[in-house]
Amino acid sequence: MSKARLNIGLVGHGFMGRAHSNAYRKAANFFDVPYEPVLKAVCGRNRRRVEAFQQTWGYESAETDWRKLVERRDINVVDVASPNDTHAEIAIAAAQSGKAVLCEKPLGRNAAESKAIVEAVEKAGVPNMVWYNYRRVPAVALAKELISEGRLGRIFHYRAKFLQDWTISKDLPQGGEALWRLEVQVAGNGVAGDLLAHCVDTALWLNGSFDSVIAVSDTFIKERRHSLTGEVRKVGIDDATAFLARFVNGSLGNFEATRYARGHKALYTFEINGEEASIIWDLHDLHRLQYFDHRDESKLRGWRSIHVTDSDHPYMKHWWVPGLQIGYEHTFVHQVADFLCGLAEGSIPGPSFRDGLATDYVTDAVLDSARSGIWQKVPTP
Ligand SMILES: NC(=O)c1ccc[n+]([C@@H]2O[C@H](COP(=O)([O-])OP(=O)(O)OC[C@H]3O[C@@H](n4cnc5c(N)ncnc54)[C@H](O)[C@@H]3O)[C@@H](O)[C@H]2O)c1
Repeated sequence: MSKARLNIGLVGHGFMGRAHSNAYRKAANFFDVPYEPVLKAVCGRNRRRVEAFQQTWGYESAETDWRKLVERRDINVVDVASPNDTHAEIAIAAAQSGKAVLCEKPLGRNAAESKAIVEAVEKAGVPNMVWYNYRRVPAVALAKELISEGRLGRIFHYRAKFLQDWTISKDLPQGGEALWRLEVQVAGNGVAGDLLAHCVDTALWLNGSFDSVIAVSDTFIKERRHSLTGEVRKVGIDDATAFLARFVNGSLGNFEATRYARGHKALYTFEINGEEASIIWDLHDLHRLQYFDHRDESKLRGWRSIHVTDSDHPYMKHWWVPGLQIGYEHTFVHQVADFLCGLAEGSIPGPSFRDGLATDYVTDAVLDSARSGIWQKVPTP
């Protein structure tokens, strides 16, 4: 029997536009999903480039104004995969026109912007999801299972870092097509929303709400040339931000993100220490979960390196045979598959836009604390 068709309208055809398009194409092949995603329209500002993308990925049509895409009656889902300064306007318009909305992270450039987006989707009653894709790495989903089963016992510590090194050169300009992440008006902030936000979303999912935070932050390169205007401007983003946290469950958190860790390209790691057991995960080895269980017989006790490829492991029975691992792009396929199943069941799995707002409350509090030098309470959405 043919599946119901769900027409996707994608805004933005860069890094995430490719990751999402690949996921829409694969989800119904590997997962038993109730809908078949149809690549109906892609939007970008440059006609030649968006049409080239349309050809490569097999979209039925191309638009150069996101407003036209949002208004189209043949679009069911608007997927916002454009830079951060566009999220609120597009997501709110899509909600108002009754579309389901998927939005890249961070949801807004700050919590106030995210709150407006949440209000719009909740008022319209439309399905919504933020692309915090690391929740859907099988090893991270396995960590969630182990924690939910109570295997770690009381949690004492949550430690996470996300390290890169691509902005160290003072000659790197800010702004424009590839460098919008360095321009504060477009990105909202620096590593807080770009990198820490991933760590925070995973932590909220695995370890629950934050109570309060205290942070340090710096902008190492104070001025950069703008790539479009050539004008030398003050840099407004945080280059490196670290913070300590108290979680509501009583555990202590320790987080760091930087684009100045020479040698590291995308080192996202987290470690959770409980009374009975501990977990470590590393994006560079994403198909493994390190697990230590103090209840093991003492002469055999040690860190296990679980190769998360068994059919008992989250998502893995849909892929190859045990022992064969999957990668980064599969996290997006999992997210699409979960979204499609949730849509049919009338219950969309997280992270919802409200979950995205929760993350932005934490990163806002972190940046406030870095400015004030004092502990900041984290509001709950
Ligand atoms: N989930 C993740 O792990 C992850 C990874 C990377 C980026 N992101 C997020 O995804 C979003 C996009 O990042 P990216 O790396 O794909 O950026 P990118 O620069 O590679 O691509 C952005 C795309 O948006 C288009 N665009 C810009 N303004 C537009 C407008 N007004 N209308 C239509 N199209 C427009 C650009 O032409 C480009 O195609 C950001 O919010 C970013 O934070 C998330």
